[in-house]
Amino acid sequence: MSLEDSTRKTLWELGATDPVAIAVRFTELRARFTRELARASEGGGWEKIRDSWVGFGDTVSTRIGINWVQTAPQDLQPLAFRYRENLIEFINIRLTVAQTLKQLGYTNPEAVPPLFAKLTQAFDMEIEACVDEIDLGVSKVDWLGRRSGVLTYVTDNWLKPSTPELKRAVGHELNKLREHVESKIEERRAVIESGADETALAREGFDLSLPGVNRPLGSHHLIHQVFQQIEDIFFSIGFSVVEGPEIETPYYNFEALNIPEFHPVRDDMDTFYLDLPKGATQPLLLRTHTSPMQIRTMEKRQPPVRVIVPGKVYRRDNPDATHSFIFHQVEGLAVDADITFCDFTGTIEYFVKQFFGPGVKTRFRPSYFPFTEPSVEFDVSCIFCGGSGSAAGGGTCSKCKGSGWIELFGAGMVDPAVYGFVKYDPKKVSGFAFGMGIDRLAMLKYGIDDIQVFFQNDVRFLRQFP
Ligand code: FA5
Repeated sequence: MSLEDSTRKTLWELGATDPVAIAVRFTELRARFTRELARASEGGGWEKIRDSWVGFGDTVSTRIGINWVQTAPQDLQPLAFRYRENLIEFINIRLTVAQTLKQLGYTNPEAVPPLFAKLTQAFDMEIEACVDEIDLGVSKVDWLGRRSGVLTYVTDNWLKPSTPELKRAVGHELNKLREHVESKIEERRAVIESGADETALAREGFDLSLPGVNRPLGSHHLIHQVFQQIEDIFFSIGFSVVEGPEIETPYYNFEALNIPEFHPVRDDMDTFYLDLPKGATQPLLLRTHTSPMQIRTMEKRQPPVRVIVPGKVYRRDNPDATHSFIFHQVEGLAVDADITFCDFTGTIEYFVKQFFGPGVKTRFRPSYFPFTEPSVEFDVSCIFCGGSGSAAGGGTCSKCKGSGWIELFGAGMVDPAVYGFVKYDPKKVSGFAFGMGIDRLAMLKYGIDDIQVFFQNDVRFLRQFP
């Protein structure tokens, strides 16, 4: 897997769900960095490496911060955080020693000891953190390794190309550092060996034969899945998706849709108004349908317009098996030079057959919406009783109440009055719109008899739709 791919995945997706696996992932990154740097320093180019690992923006260190640390399970997050900090420190040291003193801006021998003091400090911190022979081996190679140990870089980049004046200072400090590193490693080894029993005991407390932590993968909520199915169907016939605000003004939610104040239709769409600070110029409400996005879209775009608008809507409805005060709709709007009622019925029938399957029958009934003319309600034959109106065990079908039809959504040809609000010329354009209740669509398709289950988040229900 490429570096880019692995750092764009979460630790969970990479299968690193326990401390050992996480450590392995970070060790791999260190090794990759060392290889890249060794390859680059043969022909210069450490800047490119710096920019892609620890520079600004989309770098390895940012990506692992987001994908590995922030999304790590809570109990493993501090560990992932510490590993990332160590990795960045490791990279920064190597980037410093990959440059010559001239490149680093050092020309004065007096500046050399403080520079080495920083290296010594970084080494001391690393060596103190070694708890066993394995850690110690890694640090030894990191610092004393012939090919790409820190001291080799210092010799090649700080010592060899320096002026004679600087060389003396660097040579002196380098010898001191080498002695320090070698003696500290031995010192640490002695400490680890003397505490070997203790470490072994501690290790025994960690039972490697136990099964790993099993973190279940989540999945999309059924409503979200239905949104995606609907989007796919409409994408296939040239619609695009737009989204809009859930907090609306009365103008977009009502007036521009040809529903003036005191119009009786507002009674069916009683909603929640926001408490606003004193002096607010207009009331704000939670949108009662996705139709305001018809207006917002037409204000922004010129015909042809073909959009669907998925989203949450709110009404002051009392909860029961088919009503919720928060539910979901998908709005559809198509406006162009010569869209006819036939285009409208053809589109809707195509959608329903794709969504429910070819066996389902459809019908339109006259209805009324202030923003469409003519307006229709669209019904499908009852999928529970096959349109017969009778339940399998005898009696009337409870889902369609014996009619054989179930109401799906409201729709119609866009009322010319609406074009007036968005400055379209009703003589030149025509179109259709529809608004479907997604929760009810999902209930019908999957045989769910209570809308409330969508909002209860009971995993026994959710798991049935992986
Ligand atoms: C509207 O909301 C119109 N905006 C639809 C429309 C759009 C008509 C464009 C014409 C052109 P209605 O109030 O019928 O219409 O709601 C549409 C669908 O939302 C209903 O068919 C139903 O499926 C769903 N619905 C309405 N109220 C609730 C509720 N309280 N709980 C769950 N679903 C609901």
